[in-house]
Amino acid sequence: MRGGWTRRCVKTLAILSRKGGTGKTTLAVHLAVAAWQSGLGVLVADCDRQASATEWRKARQSGGPVVFGAKSAALFATQQASQRAGRDLMIIDTSPSASEDLADAVRCADFCLMVLRPSFLDVKAVRDTAELVGRLGKAGAFVINQAPPRRAGKEMACVGDTVAQLTPLGRPILSTGLRSRIAYQQAIAEGKAVQESAPTSAAAQEIGQLWKVIQDQLWTPARIKSRR
Ligand SMILES: Nc1ncnc2c1ncn2[C@@H]1O[C@H](COP(=O)(O)OP(=O)(O)OP(=O)(O)O)[C@@H](O)[C@H]1O
Ligand SMILES: [Mg+2]
Repeated sequence: MRGGWTRRCVKTLAILSRKGGTGKTTLAVHLAVAAWQSGLGVLVADCDRQASATEWRKARQSGGPVVFGAKSAALFATQQASQRAGRDLMIIDTSPSASEDLADAVRCADFCLMVLRPSFLDVKAVRDTAELVGRLGKAGAFVINQAPPRRAGKEMACVGDTVAQLTPLGRPILSTGLRSRIAYQQAIAEGKAVQESAPTSAAAQEIGQLWKVIQDQLWTPARIKSRR
């Protein structure tokens, strides 16, 4: 073993919500591209039978993160294989599914990102996930996706209501969420991320900010500033 040799350790980010369509795959592939652009070796473990992340990878013309279809029960083995392959980051794109599948993802995770839209039903659905993350003793935070644009500089009421309903759950709510933007849909359809299809856009900027928060949580965990 050489003196300067340090063992690389694969970090694992689980992207969770039991509710369908909240934006798990959108976040998974965008964060994966952000990590890959920063020079990391990235694997997206696609645990969804719909295989949306896999479809995105097929649509992609260029290099980028590896996407691997994985059964949730095989996630630990996938993590070990990623470690042996010298990868730095595994992002688990979960399905809107039963809690046992989610539990497998949470067990493997260093950090759990719980995705929801700013709506009453999404808040209701995320409670079980937050409880699961807490029960398994994992670090995690909520991220609000598809927030409507501000009107006259003001946040719409649904965002404030969502924050108010999430706060008692005792987990940080990231101040850097994603707004509802067509740029995300267009990028995904081209097998890209917004950083690639619209690098100067507000969407690319918010992905950059979110990636920075996630990067800190995975490699230099600090107290997250929760939004109020
Ligand atoms: N911030 C956003 N702005 C606009 N559209 C978005 C945004 N996030 C997600 N979408 C769109 O919402 C739909 C659902 O997103 P996505 O597939 O990422 O959700 P999901 O949670 O992975 O869904 P599923 O539960 O089916 O796996 C897609 O059409 C996607 O393009
Ligand atoms: Mg999905």
